[in-house]
Amino acid sequence: MKPTVAQYPAARLRRVRKSPAIRALVRENTLTTDDFIWPVFLMEGHDDETSIASMPGVTRKTIDRVVKAAKEAHALGIPAMCLFPYTSMEHRTEDCAMAWSPDNLTNTAIRAIKDAVPEMAIMTDIALDPYNINGHDGYVVDGEIINDETVEALVKMALAQAEAGADILGPSDMMDGRIGAMRSALESEGHQNVAILSYTAKYASGFYGPFRDAVGASGALKGDKKTYQMDPGNSDEALRLVERDLMEGADMVMVKPGMPYLDICRRVKDSFGVPTYAYQVSGEYAMIQAAVQNGWLDGEKVMLESLLCFKRAGCDGILTYFAPEAARLLNG
Ligand code: PBG
Repeated sequence: MKPTVAQYPAARLRRVRKSPAIRALVRENTLTTDDFIWPVFLMEGHDDETSIASMPGVTRKTIDRVVKAAKEAHALGIPAMCLFPYTSMEHRTEDCAMAWSPDNLTNTAIRAIKDAVPEMAIMTDIALDPYNINGHDGYVVDGEIINDETVEALVKMALAQAEAGADILGPSDMMDGRIGAMRSALESEGHQNVAILSYTAKYASGFYGPFRDAVGASGALKGDKKTYQMDPGNSDEALRLVERDLMEGADMVMVKPGMPYLDICRRVKDSFGVPTYAYQVSGEYAMIQAAVQNGWLDGEKVMLESLLCFKRAGCDGILTYFAPEAARLLNG
């Protein structure tokens, strides 16, 4: 559709920018607390938090603190949280068995949050990296990240999370065939109503650095993730991946990172019209916070603007570490 615009002065496009009231009337996209999925980092222990140097304002929290945070987030109107564990070294092994233990940090936290705040939707992360000695999302054999054996492990992880009460599973591993394998296991094990939000177009990005600090994977990671995560030069490939994941049973899809990949968000939404999410990742958060701490940017303005852009690009929601702060601002 080509917009029709009259000649000046019949058209003065500034007329609709005249006042807050007129601007509100013509605004095409708005950000609300309904748009947020809040990623949080879990750690062992009791009544404790530790800060993450590269993510100012974000902490790893013990489960009791996460439950408290969930109550606050619910009161702020945030519909969902996403859990990421900081796994201690003794729980990282070659077989990654802790990943599907019913008593690992994530599964224990799911039950605790669901117990205290049943309305809060809980999303999880499915990938082996928090449990793997080498920091990779899949099993490594002779330097290769092997696909099919990894998928078998991921299915066990998915079932354990569903069993613990997760509402939305988030496979972030980028193996082939994982969505179909998880979907059929969920169906046959009585978890028909557990949703899958696939990390579908996940790029091999430099913007994940602070996250890897947060989950203690930075030092552990050997090599890079380029044989499974997407090449930043590609766009058509993202559409093939979305189509594939939808055919295999994904309910929602994600583009990650966010702001450097807004073109992908728009193409995905236009091509498929399915629930589409962006992950404003740790590096995006860190960049904004660093500039704000230096007094170079206005924190409140750029936070909300950096989130609104995802709505404009067609996203239905955003995973963002800013969720509580942004919700507080939006609630006035
Ligand atoms: C792990 C995972 C990563 C993120 C989410 N899940 C890191 C990676 O792939 O190395 C990144 C999130 C962020 O940077 O905020 N599978």
